[in-house]
Amino acid sequence: MMNKIKIKEIYKEKFKKFIKFNQSYFEKDRPIVSDSEFDKLKKELLELAKKYPFLKKINDLDKIVGSKPSGKFQKVKHAKPMLSLSNAFEKEDMLDFKKKIQNFLNISTEIELSSEPKIDGISASLRYEKGKLIYGLSRGDGIFGENITSNLLTIREIPKILKNPPEIIEIRGEVYIGKQDFEKLKDKFANPRNAAGGSLRQKNSSETAKIPLKFFAYGIGEIKNHFFKNQSDLLKELKNWGFSVNSYCKIINSIDGVEENHSEIERLRSELDYDVDGIVYKVNNFNFQDRLGSTSNSPRWAIAYKFSSVKASSKIRNISVQVGRTGAITPVAKIDPVTVGGVVVSNATLHNEDEINRKDIRIGDTVMVQRAGDVIPQVLSVDKSKRDKNSKKFIFPDKCLCGYPTKKEVNLSTKKTDAVRRCTRGYECEFTAREKLKHIVSKDAFDIEGLGKKVIDNFWSLKFIRTPADIFDLNYTKLEALDGWGELSINNLKNAIENSRKIVLDRFIYSIGIRHIGQENAKILGAFFKTSKKFSELFNHKKRKDILKNLHDLDGIGETQAKSIEDFFSNQKNSTNIQSLMSELNIEEFKKINTKGKLSNKNLMFTGGFERMSRSEAKAIAEENGAKILGSVSKKLDHLIIGNSKPTKKKIEKAKQLKIDLMTEKKWYELLNR
Ligand code: IVH
Repeated sequence: MMNKIKIKEIYKEKFKKFIKFNQSYFEKDRPIVSDSEFDKLKKELLELAKKYPFLKKINDLDKIVGSKPSGKFQKVKHAKPMLSLSNAFEKEDMLDFKKKIQNFLNISTEIELSSEPKIDGISASLRYEKGKLIYGLSRGDGIFGENITSNLLTIREIPKILKNPPEIIEIRGEVYIGKQDFEKLKDKFANPRNAAGGSLRQKNSSETAKIPLKFFAYGIGEIKNHFFKNQSDLLKELKNWGFSVNSYCKIINSIDGVEENHSEIERLRSELDYDVDGIVYKVNNFNFQDRLGSTSNSPRWAIAYKFSSVKASSKIRNISVQVGRTGAITPVAKIDPVTVGGVVVSNATLHNEDEINRKDIRIGDTVMVQRAGDVIPQVLSVDKSKRDKNSKKFIFPDKCLCGYPTKKEVNLSTKKTDAVRRCTRGYECEFTAREKLKHIVSKDAFDIEGLGKKVIDNFWSLKFIRTPADIFDLNYTKLEALDGWGELSINNLKNAIENSRKIVLDRFIYSIGIRHIGQENAKILGAFFKTSKKFSELFNHKKRKDILKNLHDLDGIGETQAKSIEDFFSNQKNSTNIQSLMSELNIEEFKKINTKGKLSNKNLMFTGGFERMSRSEAKAIAEENGAKILGSVSKKLDHLIIGNSKPTKKKIEKAKQLKIDLMTEKKWYELLNR
């Protein structure tokens, strides 16, 4: 037998190598060895540990986070994230979009918009270096895409070489199938979009080649050594490079123009050979686009104006309620199944108690149901002429499904009573708890692939998962007995769960689902707490009080948010559940976006209106440069920047008293070198 020390040495060596391979795949997303080499090493390690159990004490392979998943495609980080778009459904939404842009840019003139049909396909990003197509990625989660180059190469409309190209350019666009071509594939796929998605993700690219996929280019990701002034110039150049650009793209200068254009394309829609589900409007000027930037998910400079929804009439059989993750009680009408725009609908939301009362909606009523895009179908109106004489007014239940009374809260800023009833028991209510779990695993939160809403429902009823910590303590052997779970899917789930133990603080804060703490607020809180240790002070009643006082200083966190945090943590069950969850995790420090910025570690505050930019833009620029924006004057403030138009005198007085640096708008621009 080999000497014990020697075996240990070999094992350690191999283990070190394995960790390196593992990290290069999971953390840097740049595998340095082939899949088979990786698997071979893993097998060797497992066999050694099996043969010599003492090795497990040195290092246990099972404990390594993120063993390689058997994903079909390699994951590659997008050089620039592929964001999604926010939606508009009516003129009001478009007016709102325009207004927000004008306010942000601090201008009152019309904004030139590039109007582009929104093709309902699958987006892809093509990277060209020195004019040569290097690789192509699917959108993936927007941050990491899948390397689907060989499949994209089968698309004739994708040029493989560009003439007179920039040094680097990523072209983004939509892969789709023509309606006519889809006819031949009808038996295999539900709709053209699924067909395009399915073909693009074929493992064997010769299968993809059999399907006539097409490509419309509409945008760019990273670009080096080239300059475009406008989106419309870019579209022209894309055509010159040999891409197909949709022929209905045009410039629109007013909201009336938007409405006209909308009806025109909607009329044309059925004649087009591809599915269009709305129109994308983008601010044409790239300088404006840069200034506007984006929120966590979508750019401020673009919007998808969806086509009007489809409607149908049906009868309400029953009204039940659903409990959401914040305890919101939503009434749902169970209706006779009816086809609305090709989809069978049997549930429609009634929004809230006030809406039911206002429209006097009753069980047995004949109603108009509307479905718009991917949003939940809703009951629009009641046909009272068809109402049964004996029908009774619907009495909204005042209890949650858990049996406890619900509350209507008073909005702290508007002082109005909320239209929504809520169960305020948090994790104590099992209906709320189940929805909270669904939020925790969702895309913007822990993003655990293979643990979707349906699986949570299933694991909940089997009592496998009842608290967030249970996710990380799942008994995988129990899954083997379940229908639909095989070795591969169990392994994939295990990997996905293990990988998600590592999470950045702000994402964690968003995940635990405190009401009024969305992604943006979670970032502000992440920057404030910095570490999970500091965040844990919220579990202590006394410390929490002090922290919440300080939170008022942060711009964006007001009384409503502070009260919501207090309500969440003062609930004992919520607190213990989150504490146990934290003990399962490896929470990383908040990553300060810019620690070298001109304003890093500086606390700023703005008062009054500025001439050249809005307060929102000033705030965004300051944050990009590493500053923190406070919401009130305190000793912590470094600079108070005073705009010419109506600054608050009280703030200036207080800042003077505290000897805080006062800055004019002009000095602020000088500081930024603008
Ligand atoms: S712009 C940040 N332009 O719509 C800009 N998108 O949710 C995002 N789409 O994922 C994309 N036609 O798949 C843009 N002319 C167009 C588009 C378009 C279709 C799709 C795309 C994107 C989704 C937006």
